[in-house]
Amino acid sequence: MLGAPSDSRGCFFVLPFPKCAGPPPGIRFAYAAMNRPYPRASSSLLVTGGAGYIGSHTLVELLAAGYRPIVLDNFSNSSSETLRRVEALAGKTLTAIEGDIGDGELLRGIFAEQARQGRPISGVIHFAGLKAVGESVEQPLRYYRNNVSGTLVLLAAMDAADVRHIVFSSSATVYRASAALPYTEDHTLGPANPYGRTKAMVEQILRDWSACDRGRRVACLRYFNPIGAHPSGRIGEAPQGVPNNLFPYITQVALGARPRLHIFGNDYPTPDGTGVRDYVHVVDLARAHVKAVEYLEQVTEGFTPINLGTGRGTSVLELVQMFERVTGVSIPREIQARRPGDIAEAYADPARATALLRWRATRTLEDMCADGWRWQSRNPKGYGP
Ligand code: NAD
Ligand code: WQD
Repeated sequence: MLGAPSDSRGCFFVLPFPKCAGPPPGIRFAYAAMNRPYPRASSSLLVTGGAGYIGSHTLVELLAAGYRPIVLDNFSNSSSETLRRVEALAGKTLTAIEGDIGDGELLRGIFAEQARQGRPISGVIHFAGLKAVGESVEQPLRYYRNNVSGTLVLLAAMDAADVRHIVFSSSATVYRASAALPYTEDHTLGPANPYGRTKAMVEQILRDWSACDRGRRVACLRYFNPIGAHPSGRIGEAPQGVPNNLFPYITQVALGARPRLHIFGNDYPTPDGTGVRDYVHVVDLARAHVKAVEYLEQVTEGFTPINLGTGRGTSVLELVQMFERVTGVSIPREIQARRPGDIAEAYADPARATALLRWRATRTLEDMCADGWRWQSRNPKGYGP
């Protein structure tokens, strides 16, 4: 059911529940544009948190691969503008619903409506979550409610609709800090903050959920440090306020929006004393999700944790120097004390991703810097006006 064009760019508001007088509580809009056929249009994928940084890049790859994603996002940390740009990049239609994963009635309605339309949801990619470590220390209950309780509501709705495949956004932050590197998926878990504990708890819930029904399958993707942006410069990371993470901080210093980068410690037992991480291009990460969806269609295993990283460690100084070399912009910086809770070094053993998903990160650190800067310099205010 198409309404009036919602804006000058040709998107249309669509009520996804045609029998309703209006959208059910929680739904404000869904929109569609530029209808083109989907090769895999017989079933749909629910993508929670699809308007976010990793979700939006994954939508582009899903659409390119012929999937039919249905986005559910409450826009608590994102903008609907992102979805318009995803549509333009992919040249395909997207259905988006504004709502919360904690709204069981809304979720049941979405599953039922897709089935009624003859395109039942076959699986879920679950990005929706709060992700700021410091905020999670200050507001732990908000994090447990959103990330853990929200996932429980989502799983209950999936059960009611007999949807049994889920790809979950987990994090390398679930691993216990250790000098034994690289981290394989068997590394001991031991998150150091409430955010990380929400991820570990959801992992445990998904493990138990998948164990009690042979058809249930979980690809639990443990991301290392996603950075960069789509090479078009149209979508990218748009943190609200002061960035918590290194790469968006660097790009904001490059813009002149912040005077200098604070490097948190140069006395770690690493080659140059600064912290070492496994930075992975967000487009590589996005493509791994398409592979994970395909993987779940084939396997018999219930719960599979999979690291997503390059397997290479890069120090803070190396990343800053690479950024300067690639962009030609110098980054003023000063050394500060270590950030509480930080570890010296973390990088992935990505062998399982290669073996099971046939996935390997192919984009270089140069690509990450060039693409991330293209996005930030062309969109200094992110998705804002
Ligand atoms: P993001 O904040 O850009 O995207 C998350 C999206 O989820 C946002 O659009 C937000 O509005 C939405 N959302 C949050 N709570 C919701 C709720 N209750 N109902 C509906 N929508 C909700 O974050 P991102 O960087 O794209 O991360 C995606 C996922 O990956 C998160 O679960 C995050 O914890 C995880 N992750 C991210 C990183 C990283 O460095 N970016 C690393 C490891 C894991
Ligand atoms: C990287 C390096 C800092 C900022 C975090 C979360 C983790 C995951 C990814 C979601 C470290 C240094 C940083 C700055 C700096 N997110 N740094 N100056 O800490 O590996 O992981 O994001 O799951 O949960 O904890 O990434 O980008 O914050 O830091 O010197 O302004 O950069 O000390 O060595 P981190 P990061």
